[in-house]
Amino acid sequence: MVDPPVGVQRGLEDVIALESRICFIDGKQGRLIYEGHDIRDLAKSSTFEEVAYLLWYGRLPTTAQLAGLKERLALLRELPPALATRIDSMPATANPMDVLRTAVSELALFEPEETRPGPSSIGGAQRLTAVLPSILGQFHRRRSGMPRLVTRPHLSAAAYLVYALLDREPTELEAHALDVALIIHADHELNASTFAARVTASTLSDLYSAVTSAVGTLKGPLHGGANERVMELLEEIGTPDRAEEVVKAKLARHERIMGFGHRVYKVEDPRATILREWSRRVGEAKGNLRYYELLRKVEEVVHREKGLYPNVDLYSGSVYSLMGIPHDLFTPVFAASRVAGWTAHVLEEYQDLRLIRPMAKYVGPIDLPYVPIGERR
Ligand code: COA
Repeated sequence: MVDPPVGVQRGLEDVIALESRICFIDGKQGRLIYEGHDIRDLAKSSTFEEVAYLLWYGRLPTTAQLAGLKERLALLRELPPALATRIDSMPATANPMDVLRTAVSELALFEPEETRPGPSSIGGAQRLTAVLPSILGQFHRRRSGMPRLVTRPHLSAAAYLVYALLDREPTELEAHALDVALIIHADHELNASTFAARVTASTLSDLYSAVTSAVGTLKGPLHGGANERVMELLEEIGTPDRAEEVVKAKLARHERIMGFGHRVYKVEDPRATILREWSRRVGEAKGNLRYYELLRKVEEVVHREKGLYPNVDLYSGSVYSLMGIPHDLFTPVFAASRVAGWTAHVLEEYQDLRLIRPMAKYVGPIDLPYVPIGERR
């Protein structure tokens, strides 16, 4: 009889798997810190490019460093023509996260020099961050009959993402709202997709493989897909006076209300606080506060009935919807931001590498007799 390990932590809950200096979540106080900087300061004063620099290099950039990074990212937006053709050949009905996962994986075939694991992968980190919106734009434009994508180097990362997806440049307020959304989604410690990326990197596999793992992990509705489901819930509710009835009925059936609860935050997710305000601001600018008002009502009912707080996904979908971003692109937009964090973590993993390999508590039988195939029933 083998000695089974004791103390299984299902879902690795509360397990500290590694040391990292990239991101700190204070789940009790509802604080999120990137490299020492509070997310509220970053959302108020910085840009996504500045935050990406912070995550990759561990400090905020100077004016010249930021200008250099922006220029580089803009140049790295172009897709290899053969990959653009491949994306064009993918079924228009495909899930955009499947397209993204496949395209990130295929990109490695065209850029073998970027796939070498190690600290020099920072070039690959910048390439992947720059090119993700182009992959999404290439796919979405074709399936919806829009003109072909050009990379418009003068646009910021946030404005380019809107342009790539919607074939129009955003208003100043829209670009600002999306920039804030990209900043606050850029990293979140050892969330499932980042952990998947680090597990892959910890085998000394390459950055593109690690990001492919991460995209596949982000796809799941318990992680990246929740904001899409929030919008489905709002459609089901219709008007604020129905929120109470619909939400209570779901809770009575033990259904989860998407956009609520969090493994780490025991109070309100600070990202939800920031996005709530942006949902209102964009709603006011568009003359459409319907989503905001519905979400406020849903929040009230869920908190009263279950004591649960909103997470980042509750309000993000409303901001994207008001801008005209289709629901099935919400998770890909999340990926276009989180790629900065994924790649920062992979770079950190390469610098302090230790194969990630936990153990399982075996609960199956041992020493079963081997029955020849012809005698089995
Ligand atoms: N709606 C209803 N009940 C919820 C809930 C939700 N969104 N989130 C948690 N709960 C309840 C669970 O049913 C459970 O209740 P019980 O003890 O009576 O069975 C309790 O709260 C603890 O839930 P648990 O699943 O153990 O917490 P977790 O840490 O594993 O869950 C999430 C974290 C994010 C998976 C979970 O909150 C969830 O499914 N949320 C909805 C999906 C979502 O918004 N994801 C985006 C995360 S940023």
